[in-house]
Amino acid sequence: MAVVVEVYPEGAAWVEAAANEIGRTLEQAVSQRGSALVALSGGRTPVAVYKRLSQSPWSETIPWPRIEWIWADERWVGADQPDSNFGGALEALLSKVPVDKKRIHRIPTEGISLERSILEYEAKLRELVARRGSGIDLAILGMGSDGHTASLFPGSAALMETDRWVAATTSPTGIAQRITLTLPLLNAAGNVVFLVTGSEKHQVMDEVLHQCCARAEEFPVAQVQATGRTVWCIDSAAAGVTAK
Ligand code: 6PG
Repeated sequence: MAVVVEVYPEGAAWVEAAANEIGRTLEQAVSQRGSALVALSGGRTPVAVYKRLSQSPWSETIPWPRIEWIWADERWVGADQPDSNFGGALEALLSKVPVDKKRIHRIPTEGISLERSILEYEAKLRELVARRGSGIDLAILGMGSDGHTASLFPGSAALMETDRWVAATTSPTGIAQRITLTLPLLNAAGNVVFLVTGSEKHQVMDEVLHQCCARAEEFPVAQVQATGRTVWCIDSAAAGVTAK
């Protein structure tokens, strides 16, 4: 269980490094298993990285048709709404590269109740994992300035989940109703890449990475660790350092 912390200058250098990390992990996963299962996140941070991955060299080198796409979390809005995590990833990446549309598994939010959506997504993920014989190869996650990740917020009952893979949560900001993957599934991922930028994340980032106070362990983001490699891909502002 390796934990790697990488700090890059803000902007293009960070985007390039994050795309590189994700691209290489995807190539490796597919070459090892023949396919890969990837969990995507929403929020602002990954958008530039998703866009970069849709361009050369990644548009040519990543074995796109071999990748199964799932979501780490979703906001309870329609796919065409600006807050949709599925819609955001589709626009920035998945509509631009030769993915197999049958391998895009969004969290349903339309024409279905919340309870039903959770049950259906759980069943879909269990079927996918059973069919592949392995869990998530790469979870691309973000971090909120309150220490949440995916839609696991501080104090969420979903953090106590030991069995179910999908749960409903409530966000204290933005779109309140969320659906999220839970720790049992996220912590079985082979690789996790956390994408964290901006000075507003610095304080929590510092506490999580240096475990400088008791509450650090309680941040949801601190409770996620891959079975293989956990990479913190941070920009200089979030790390609180001056880039050279
Ligand atoms: C979401 C997320 C969430 C996100 C963080 C960071 O749907 O909101 O998946 O966990 O990664 O809130 O969001 P920003 O990148 O916008 O700061």
